[in-house]
Amino acid sequence: MFDKLKEQPADSLLALIKAFHADPRQDKVDLGVGVYRDEQGRTPVMRAVKLAEKHLLETQDSKRYLGPEGDLTFVNLLKPIIFGAGRDLLDQIVGIQTPGGSGALRLGAELVAAANPNARVWLGTPSWPNHAPIFRSARVAVADYRFVDLEMQKIDFARVVEALSSATAGDVVLLHGCCHNPTGIDFTAVQWKQIAALLVERKLVPFIDLAYQGLGDGLEQDAEPARLILDAVDEAMVAYSCDKNFGLYRERVGALYLVSRNSRELQIADTNMASLARVNWSMPPDHGAAIVRAILESAELTEIWKTELQEMCARVNGNRAALAAAHPDLAFIALQRGLFSNLAISKETVAALRLKHGIYMAVTGRMNLAGMQPADAGAIVKALHAEGSLNAPAA
Ligand code: LMR
Repeated sequence: MFDKLKEQPADSLLALIKAFHADPRQDKVDLGVGVYRDEQGRTPVMRAVKLAEKHLLETQDSKRYLGPEGDLTFVNLLKPIIFGAGRDLLDQIVGIQTPGGSGALRLGAELVAAANPNARVWLGTPSWPNHAPIFRSARVAVADYRFVDLEMQKIDFARVVEALSSATAGDVVLLHGCCHNPTGIDFTAVQWKQIAALLVERKLVPFIDLAYQGLGDGLEQDAEPARLILDAVDEAMVAYSCDKNFGLYRERVGALYLVSRNSRELQIADTNMASLARVNWSMPPDHGAAIVRAILESAELTEIWKTELQEMCARVNGNRAALAAAHPDLAFIALQRGLFSNLAISKETVAALRLKHGIYMAVTGRMNLAGMQPADAGAIVKALHAEGSLNAPAA
């Protein structure tokens, strides 16, 4: 049987992790996979997480099965953080715990395929390289449209309007809620309003991927676009990840939320999520969700977590400012948000930066700005100049 299989390439983002670790150079810089790093270049376990784990160690008395929906207390504790405390909208949302944001995307894609096999998902590119494969593997057709001009570091909003205007009623529109991966370029408030109006007019279903809440401008600010969209439309889906903002990457902590004005349909959709989860993973892994739950159930731990997240956010934005200040042609980096910026450079240049200068980034030219120190800005600019991607560095 296995002789029929074709060899598959390693995931190019995840392969960077090993390549970087194998590089003996002391002055190497890892701008590769999207994880937060501190001043020492480590991805530490957050203090709030350590305290929550200690609490779990002392108090958890069972690891019995939950159900396909996972820990609904975890799912519900996140709701006010994502959707806003005290809002009517909260009653029009159901959720299920998933293995990371990827699990939420996969489950959402399967729900689309089950509900409307003719639906296409509209995907603005460049996007996270796993988006299109996740939808395609769930048999959802992907309609992609190039909406960011990397040379200009600008959104081509006319392309967005054109794409959504040619979508069919019932099609799904994938939107990055904040901290666009890979470009760091988010829609402006005005553009979000226009998108909301188009979704309503064209009867399209937004599928918001919110994987970096709190790492752009702050927890509340980063959720505003999603809330604006959800207030406008009749139905929506939100894939949420706690892997970044709680630093729980390998624990795989996420949730899929469905929004509908029709409570009966919402309840039926909820049962569909549960049965899809059952055939995929039976139930999601508990430990990471239990950590998040323990944090959010404690006012003290929540405060510690929020403070740490603010520190992380400030560090990333400080790195952005340092790199932007190091060369006028990189000034755009300070205006973008989240972990990433995407340079308009060739894969040959990316390879040369790695081989000759020890600077690692995704093959597409995406940089994880959390991976650098402000003091690396000069070396990054020099390397880009040496490879012909920037004019002479400012004196
Ligand atoms: C990234 O974009 O680097 C992260 O989301 C990690 C991943 O799974 O690709």
